[in-house]
Amino acid sequence: ALGGTVAEPKITTAAEPLLLNAVRGEDVERPPVWLMRQAGRYMKSYQIICEKHPSFRERSENVDLVVEISLQPWKVFKPDGVILFSDILTPLSGMNIPFDIVKGKGPVIFNPLGTAADVEQVREFVPEDSVPYVGEALTILRKEVDNKAAVLGFVGAPFTLASYVVEGGSSKHFTKIKRLAFSQPKVLHALLQKFATSMARYIQFQADSGAQAVQIFDSWATELSPVDFEEFSLPYLKQIVDTVKQTHPELPLILYASGSGGLLERLALTGVDVVSLDWTVDMAEGRRRLGPNIAVQGNVDPGVLFGSKDFITNRINDTVRKAGRGKHILNLGHGIVVGTPEENVAHFFEVAKGLRY
Ligand code: CP3
Repeated sequence: ALGGTVAEPKITTAAEPLLLNAVRGEDVERPPVWLMRQAGRYMKSYQIICEKHPSFRERSENVDLVVEISLQPWKVFKPDGVILFSDILTPLSGMNIPFDIVKGKGPVIFNPLGTAADVEQVREFVPEDSVPYVGEALTILRKEVDNKAAVLGFVGAPFTLASYVVEGGSSKHFTKIKRLAFSQPKVLHALLQKFATSMARYIQFQADSGAQAVQIFDSWATELSPVDFEEFSLPYLKQIVDTVKQTHPELPLILYASGSGGLLERLALTGVDVVSLDWTVDMAEGRRRLGPNIAVQGNVDPGVLFGSKDFITNRINDTVRKAGRGKHILNLGHGIVVGTPEENVAHFFEVAKGLRY
């Protein structure tokens, strides 16, 4: 152009998703709503895909299937958050820890880790090399959802991931990881450090690919007593949050731990933007204990979805009233349970989306 500068045409984008406005404490007319594990086995459309593609690894590692499954609840219920269909264990094969998720049994780690030499073999995660399909799926989801909802990514927290790879799968008493923690803490710390570095990178990769908020699942951290949480989980969560905030200061981070009533104040110390409460904590009490600067998510008992429609409505109202206006994402207190009637899920969303403060 001759002289002067020509203004770049403004790219018009849709308004920000309600979920992001709510987390930032902006004035919103109702709480945004989504459900943990909203894609999955309670949906008939998912079961049909499972028949054709019986391998969980395939369903969660093929871009087209990941996108299709992630969008199933979006198409039916129009939640305010669309979570990537994946698993917290998905990064493991890229870290040289072979695993599978077996129907009726759950996660299986083929060679559980127990020694310094085992931990030595664990590779740090390079998401762009190991899980390019996650990046591609998030980019497609972001386009499809087009800011009408927030696209959510997620990772497992270091202690929770370590519990799977040391125990070899799901566990009841967590004896193997506790034996390691309480007899060879250095070995466990080396493993936790690898997971912390890797998961920080994974969150950055998800955000760069299109995720607008990321949830960190430390589902089993509450198996630790508070002093042990302070040694084996909190520092690594803080490290992840600090690392991600350096590159992505605007990206909301949500932290979930199941049964976290004994740890709430410590969860807030991680620096996350949102703490996701399970249903054993009274929402009003949780809110008070966390203070005004942090947003809360939750916390309807997933079992409530087996109740009558009136009961579901009452519990939603009770939870939203106790959470108070703003900085609240309505959700369940843990993942939706297999066998939940789809019509009750539809009712939950209908009531939630009709609320006004
Ligand atoms: O929320 C969503 O819709 C996204 C999908 C999602 C899955 N797993 C899909 C899945 C998310 C967010 C997860 C996270 C996850 N995975 C956690 C943290 C959340 C929590 O519940 O505390 C944990 C601990 C895991 C590990 C894991 N993966 C378990 C314990 C199981 C269940 C085993 C079983 O068979 O019940 C899985 C498998 C899994 N991941 C399923 C789904 C839908 C069920 C298996 C299937 O659909 O074939």
